[in-house]
Amino acid sequence: MCGIVGYVGKQKAASIIIEGLKRLEYRGYDSAGVAVLQNDRIDVAKKAGRVEILAKEAARHRFTGTTGIGHTRWATHGGVTDANAHPHVSSDGKFALIHNGVIENYSSIKKFLLSKGYTFSSETDTEALVNLIAYHYQKEPAAEDKSRFLESVRRSLMHVEGTYGIAVICTDSPGELVAARKASPLILGVGDGEFIIASDVSALISRTQNVVYLKDGELVHLTGKNFSIITQSEEDVSPIVNKVTWSAEAAEIGSFSHFMEKEIFEQPVALENAMRGRFSADGSTAQFGGLNLTPIEVRQIDRFAFCGCGTAWHACLVAEHLIERFARVPVEVDYASEFRYRNSPLDGNTLFFVVSQSGETIDTLGALREAKRKGYKVLAINNTVGSSIAREADGGIYQHVGPEIGVASTKAFTSQLLIGAMFALYVARMRDMSFSDGVEYVKALKAAPDLVRKALEQAPRIKEIAKRYAQYADMLFLGRLSLFPIALEGALKLKEISYIHAEGYPAAEMKHGPIALISEKCPSVFFAPKSEIFNKIVSSIQEIKARNGKTIVITTEGCEFPPGVADDVIYIPDCHEAVLPIVATVPVQLLSYYIACERGCDVDKPRNLAKSVTVE
Ligand code: F6R
Repeated sequence: MCGIVGYVGKQKAASIIIEGLKRLEYRGYDSAGVAVLQNDRIDVAKKAGRVEILAKEAARHRFTGTTGIGHTRWATHGGVTDANAHPHVSSDGKFALIHNGVIENYSSIKKFLLSKGYTFSSETDTEALVNLIAYHYQKEPAAEDKSRFLESVRRSLMHVEGTYGIAVICTDSPGELVAARKASPLILGVGDGEFIIASDVSALISRTQNVVYLKDGELVHLTGKNFSIITQSEEDVSPIVNKVTWSAEAAEIGSFSHFMEKEIFEQPVALENAMRGRFSADGSTAQFGGLNLTPIEVRQIDRFAFCGCGTAWHACLVAEHLIERFARVPVEVDYASEFRYRNSPLDGNTLFFVVSQSGETIDTLGALREAKRKGYKVLAINNTVGSSIAREADGGIYQHVGPEIGVASTKAFTSQLLIGAMFALYVARMRDMSFSDGVEYVKALKAAPDLVRKALEQAPRIKEIAKRYAQYADMLFLGRLSLFPIALEGALKLKEISYIHAEGYPAAEMKHGPIALISEKCPSVFFAPKSEIFNKIVSSIQEIKARNGKTIVITTEGCEFPPGVADDVIYIPDCHEAVLPIVATVPVQLLSYYIACERGCDVDKPRNLAKSVTVE
C-alpha cells in the first residue's frame, strides 16, 4: 500500500527515485510523484496515474538535485487527483513529505493548523503531517546539539495516531533526509556514498545489497556521508546492516509478458528453494531451523491456530486439512482481520501461526500482536526477511521464494502450501505416522517441483480453453476436501485479475444454493481428481450439466468421465494427497492469467488492489 523512496547521495536523485518507484508500483498505482531539493527550494512533479506518466512529467522538470523523495500511491484519504498525489509540501514551502499509512487523527491536527494560518491544497491526511512538521520547526527551535530538522519531525510524530512510513526533506537542510516508521515498512539501503530509503528491498537492490531494517518507532537521519537512528524517545540505536541474499535480476521481468506469468512458471524452482535442507537425514520427516521450539514442546501442543488474509488464508485452510488428516491435531483457521477483534478463546497448549508473504499485512500483524498479548507463542510462515511479521514473531519458517512482484500471489501461495504440508509431516512423525509412511511422504514432497513442471506443460491447452471462457460474467469453482481451498483460490485469482465474478464452494454445497446461478451463462470449474469420492464429484458435475452449465474439469491422469460431462478437461499428474493442492493450483492460476490477458486486463496491477495491505 503506497511505495516510498528517498535518496541522498551524489547522483541525480529524480531518476534513481523514479526507477525505485517503478519497482514499487505493485504497492499502489493511483498516482505518483517526486520532490527534489534544488537550489534551496523544493521542486515537485506529481501526477494521477502510473509512474510512467510521472516519468514524462519529471523529464520536463529537468531535475538535477541529489536529494529527493518519491511516492506511488494507493488512495485512502482523498480521490485520485494530481493534488492528492504525494509528495506534499508544507504551506511555507520548507518541507516535502511522502507517506505510507493512515493518520487517523488528521482532522484534529488540520483544524489546529488551520487556526494557526497554515493552508491546505489536498484532501489527504498526509498534508496535515507535513504542516505539523513546519509548525514545530518554526515554534520550537531545537537545542544546540540537536538537528532542528530531525527534532521537528520527531516532535510532530508524537502527536500522530495511526500508521506511517514517511520520508521528509527540508530546504534548510540540503543533503539531508529524515524518515520514520510505525507499522508501515521502511528499509534503509547503505550504498557507496549514498543512502536510499524505501518501502521494500526491490526499490534499492540495484544500488546496494546492504540494508538496515528499521523498527517501529525509529527515525533515521541521513546526512550526506552518514546516518543515525534514534527512537521516538530519543535513544540512540546501533544499526545492524544486513546483506540481502537475492540479486536485482530476481526482481526483473525477463522475457515474460507479466510478473504473474514469470512467477507461475518459476514455481518448480521456488518449491525447490522452499524445501532445500528441510528434510531429516533419514528421509522420513521435515525439519525447520527457526521454530525456536524443542521437539518436546511441539509434541505437547494440542491445537494449532492459523491466521492469514486472502490467498494466505487459503494456504491456512490447506494446512488445517493436512495437519488434521496426517498429524491428527485439531487446527483452527481464522481470517486475521476477524481474529484480532473477535476475542477467540485459545487454550494453554495452542501454537499460533500467522501466514503472510509480505510480512507487512496490517491485519495479520494485528492478529500476531493480539495472540502475543494473550501470551501465546506465535510462529510465522513468511517470505520477506526483515519484515515486521518476521521480526515480531517468536520464530517461523521462511518461504525462500524470492520477491513476488505480481499483485496476485502465485509462487508464494504454492510455497505456503508446501510448508504447510511439511509442517503436517513434522508433527505427524512426532505422533502416529510410521517411518515408512514418513519416507513415502518425503518422497512425494520432493517430487512436487517436477509434478508442477508437468502441470505447467498444460499451459498452451489452458490458453486455448481460456479464449472460450473469457467473455463470461460469472464462474463457479468447486472442489472437495483439500481442494476446496484451491477452489476458493481459483475464484479469487480469477476475480482479482480479470474482474469476472467468481465464487468457490465445496462441490457438494453447490446444491444448497449456488446451483441457482447455473445456466449456460455461468460455467463451473471442477476439481475431480482420483479419490474415494470421485464418483460423487462426477454426480455433482452431472447436476451442472443437467442445467446447461458448461464445465471445465481439472482431474488427474487416468480419470475418465462419462460422455458429455466435461466440456473441457485439464489433466494434472496423479500425486500424493499432500502435494495435490500444490499441483492442482497450477491450472487455475494459468486459467485466470490467460482469461485476464484475453480480456486485456492489467494483470500485474489489477484495479483497486495493492500487493501489501498495510492499512486496515
Ligand atoms: C491475492 C493476494 C492477497 C494476499 C493478501 C495477504 O492474490 O495476493 O489476497 O494473499 O493480501 O498478503 P500477505 O500474504 O502479504 O499477508
